[in-house]
Amino acid sequence: MSFPIHRMRRLRKTETIRNLVRETTLTRNDLVMPLFVCPGSRVKKPIASMPGIFQHSVDELVKEAKRLVDLGVQAVLLFGIPEYKDEHGHVACQEHGIVQKALRALKKETPRLYLIADVCNCEYTTHGHCGTVIDGEVDNDLTLATLGAQAVSLARAGVDMVAPSDMMDGRVARIRQVLDESHFEYLPIMSYAAKYASAFYGPFREAAESAPQFGNRASYQMDPANSNEALREIALDIEEGADLVMVKPALSYLDIIRRGKDEFNLPFAAYNVSGEYAMVKAAAQKGWIDENRLVLEILTSIKRAGADIIISYHTQEICNQL
Ligand code: PBG
Repeated sequence: MSFPIHRMRRLRKTETIRNLVRETTLTRNDLVMPLFVCPGSRVKKPIASMPGIFQHSVDELVKEAKRLVDLGVQAVLLFGIPEYKDEHGHVACQEHGIVQKALRALKKETPRLYLIADVCNCEYTTHGHCGTVIDGEVDNDLTLATLGAQAVSLARAGVDMVAPSDMMDGRVARIRQVLDESHFEYLPIMSYAAKYASAFYGPFREAAESAPQFGNRASYQMDPANSNEALREIALDIEEGADLVMVKPALSYLDIIRRGKDEFNLPFAAYNVSGEYAMVKAAAQKGWIDENRLVLEILTSIKRAGADIIISYHTQEICNQL
């Protein structure tokens, strides 16, 4: 039976009825704000390709975190820009490393804020790859050692959750093992399980100063053309002990979020990445789109696709409207 018995427009007639039948509602509880911390003091350096986003020194980061808490932001994801880099990323494992310092300061000054830290080598290596390079290739098994050490070091500095983004095989198992050996049994791991080799990361690499100095990341990050493979990646990370899994980027991969969510029963995160943010900002600056509506539409669509957690640079501008 169809028209004229059925008229879809009946439930769209007024704002109230639209509110009553709405299937997806974005809330502050869904959002995580990424932050970049750099050395020095009183540094608040704008990132050209990401208007509104900065590299902050620890003192400025604390101010920014307080502002975010006042806006209703409850969780942040930290990335570090170290003072110097080395071959293997050992600099990321130091007790007084840049993210470790930030964690201690934030735990003290904004104790209610939930602190997630990225675990990866690309911001810390001279060559900008996510692991130890041997003969021009990222060596998987050697990289597991630095990733494990980095995770434990972040745990000691007070992190609430670690998020490995390197895409090495076996890293979730290794990180779980070394965390447990160091008595961090209750520290959750959010794995970037289905992370694609994406052109959408361009602006981030400016923000985190982490562009690879040779080649690309296609030998460890996923091929954007693949979807079945994403399910396998997710299944393996769950087996290895991931508490939450992430799909990244978000917008070109909403189908992956949906397939994953339908298949597995655990929380899913999606990363609305730097290039997605930059495109919105660029179009808004030209006056080509209604930015506020667009951002709400984008974030709602990511939630509708199945994401429980949305990591987005738009968090700060949208949180006080939710
Ligand atoms: C580190 C990492 C990247 C992003 C998050 N963690 C960059 C990359 O893989 O090159 C990208 C985030 C963004 O674009 O916002 N491996």
